[in-house]
Amino acid sequence: MYTIEKEIGTIIAGSLSDGFIMRISSSIDLDNLKAGTFVSISGTEYRFFSMITNIYLESLPAELVQYPPTSTNNLLWQRVKQRYLHATAILRPMVALNNRLERSPVTSIPAHFCPVTTVAPQEITAIFGSEKDDRETYFSIGTPLEMDVSVCLNIPKLLERSNGIFGKTGTGKTFLTRLVLAGVIKNTHAVTLIFDMHSEYGLQARKEGSHESFVKGLKTLFPNKIAIFSLDPASTKRRGASPDVAIKLSYHALQVEDILSLQQELNLHPTACESAYLLEAHYKKSWLAILLNSGDKLKELAQEIGCHPESLSALHRKLKQIQRLPFFDQSLTHDTVIEQLLEYLQRGVSVIIEFGNFTSTFCYLLLANIITRRIHALYIEKTEKFLGSHKKEDEPRKLLITIEEAHKFLNPQTARQTIFGTIAREMRKYYVSLLVIDQRPSGIDPEIVSQLGTKIVAQLSDEKDIQAVLTGTHGNQELKTVLAALDSKKQVLLLGHAIPMPIVIQTRSYDETFYAALAESTPKATLEQLY
Ligand SMILES: Nc1ncnc2c1ncn2[C@@H]1O[C@H](COP(=O)(O)OP(=O)(O)OP(=O)(O)O)[C@@H](O)[C@H]1O
Ligand SMILES: [Mg+2]
Repeated sequence: MYTIEKEIGTIIAGSLSDGFIMRISSSIDLDNLKAGTFVSISGTEYRFFSMITNIYLESLPAELVQYPPTSTNNLLWQRVKQRYLHATAILRPMVALNNRLERSPVTSIPAHFCPVTTVAPQEITAIFGSEKDDRETYFSIGTPLEMDVSVCLNIPKLLERSNGIFGKTGTGKTFLTRLVLAGVIKNTHAVTLIFDMHSEYGLQARKEGSHESFVKGLKTLFPNKIAIFSLDPASTKRRGASPDVAIKLSYHALQVEDILSLQQELNLHPTACESAYLLEAHYKKSWLAILLNSGDKLKELAQEIGCHPESLSALHRKLKQIQRLPFFDQSLTHDTVIEQLLEYLQRGVSVIIEFGNFTSTFCYLLLANIITRRIHALYIEKTEKFLGSHKKEDEPRKLLITIEEAHKFLNPQTARQTIFGTIAREMRKYYVSLLVIDQRPSGIDPEIVSQLGTKIVAQLSDEKDIQAVLTGTHGNQELKTVLAALDSKKQVLLLGHAIPMPIVIQTRSYDETFYAALAESTPKATLEQLY
């Protein structure tokens, strides 16, 4: 049943816990054998799918070290190579397949001298699933190194937990996120809310390269399944489309909890936050309006609520910039925008929040906190209603909230107090989870990183970041070697819940071929039933 694949070595030692040692066949060209490659050990009952996690040149007899052959192209060299040169690789077994191509965890080991071969495409499909068999579940995200067959993410499993995409700048995180989100948007039971700081997801986005060129945004690919909410409608229009909704928020929308994430950004002293809480206790929803409008009466205000005048004036100074933000409207008392947003999500339309020219961290953190806190509260209500009624139509749609620069929301100092920390920790209880994108995972609370369900990791160069993404992962020492061997672009290590075993892939190209495949595989009915 198997296509016979190329033999690359034989098993000579090893264990279930430490992996197996393969002697590499002398016919294999070592420079072309790569860490992270997927191989298959043929036992009698099972084939053990394993990842090459390290490669060694074994030591030579003393005489050869002293008198190494001078040419690699003669009879002596051939003899030496066959007899003495000895390279090994460590294989980490991940999954076993029986001869009916059924998958199971690895609980036994192959015997001595079992052959190791490259993997057959149909085996990859048996392990990772295929879009052809089930378009709702599987979404192709790339190919294994040196192979031309799809590796798929299991989208429902991805949505069960919070997830992370990590990698240093320029490795392809944004491109990969667009791909993953296309998979989520395609799924009829899920929606996503994207906080799009740099306006890269909705309409066209720039592609690096010698020529200025552009790629399509998600709104262009799924016109009926995406709505753009913009903080800066003029900027959205300049890029070729009117936003579906222009965001206007009242001062009431902002709670003290929303500025806790901003403590570091604003260099806000804890006593300033305490005075904000005191204000909120006194004036409830009007606290911000009262604060911002009391410029010359701050001393009296401090006395009235019983806080230190200096901390209140520090708070005033730091939050004053809100008055200059055009998307805050002091005359509003009700935030219909948030209700509209929830309506879209309930209808199965994903929402992109575009920040346009408001690209400051201050705006990003503030808006993402306000909106996410409110949406989360509404999701809790909906979930509780559903748990009471058990009616299928009351069941909330799974919501994946996408944030970039995640360490700013989830650093150890603030993650405990903010809405994003809450969502990451409570996991899927309320149908809401996160997709966090970051180039500095070591800045995120380690407890949160270790709870992420699926991690997609591109090249990272800082040791602390590598450590951070692999903490709590089985076999992390070996995966570290694999991570270090990744290319600087379009290659990632996939780990966790949405895939049956860790694997290194060449990321699927986000280009014309992808758009065409997507159009073909998205059922028209999915789009029609929305409108
Ligand atoms: N899957 C892909 N398909 C096509 N091109 C890609 C892909 N991944 C990366 N690229 C190329 O690499 C460039 C950088 O990718 P991207 O903008 O996603 O990096 P990034 O990790 O988000 O960087 P930053 O941290 O600076 O935001 C892109 O402009 C594109 O040219
Ligand atoms: Mg990016």
